[in-house]
Amino acid sequence: MEAKKAAAELAITEIRDGMIVGLGTGSTAYWAIQGIGARVQNGLNIQAVATSVASENLAKELGIPLIPFANISEIDVTIDGADEVDSAWHVIKGGGGALLREKIVAFSSRKLIIVVDESKVVAQLGAFPLPVEVVKFGYELTIRKLRSLGVRPKVRAVDGQPFVTDNGNYIIDCHFGSIPNPADLHQAINGIPGVVENGLFIGMASQVIVGYKDGSVARL
Ligand code: 5RP
Repeated sequence: MEAKKAAAELAITEIRDGMIVGLGTGSTAYWAIQGIGARVQNGLNIQAVATSVASENLAKELGIPLIPFANISEIDVTIDGADEVDSAWHVIKGGGGALLREKIVAFSSRKLIIVVDESKVVAQLGAFPLPVEVVKFGYELTIRKLRSLGVRPKVRAVDGQPFVTDNGNYIIDCHFGSIPNPADLHQAINGIPGVVENGLFIGMASQVIVGYKDGSVARL
């Protein structure tokens, strides 16, 4: 907890009055949202968009002003967590199932700050199963196509039922073991009809902040 909180607390120092801020999802982004909420209560004047229903609810509880996507064209800074990050700042996200909204928000952000604890930093992506969001229609066929990429796809389940995303879709967790060429894989997966988006964020991060158990932080 201390590592995630420390990374998030450094990231929120980038936020200034007047900014539009993207709120990430997960246990590290949680600390960023908490910190932003505290600053808002002390007079920080921002507007925010959330990457999940959970983050939106947390923002509301903390009094962070939210604006509809229809009213914005660009987000100044987004702070979000990750499941894996490599030295090129390529990232796997979606462990919490929010990858689609996270990618939509990241794509429209001038700055995407990834906040992680040290356990997320890897030499090569792929030990963490890559989450792929697929529409429910024909998902069995979509899974077969994913399998042809040489992976073991597994429908994410909670209490024996398929996990359903905020967008009404399923998540297929794809165990690659290692991903030597994330850009090619990203394209191959998104080329399969039925796939909505995958959790590879290639060249999107502007900064990666790593927190350590002792509470120290470093930029990757
Ligand atoms: C949610 C995400 C999260 O950012 C990712 O899973 C990291 O979560 P945590 O900070 O809880 O380890 O991508 O879809």
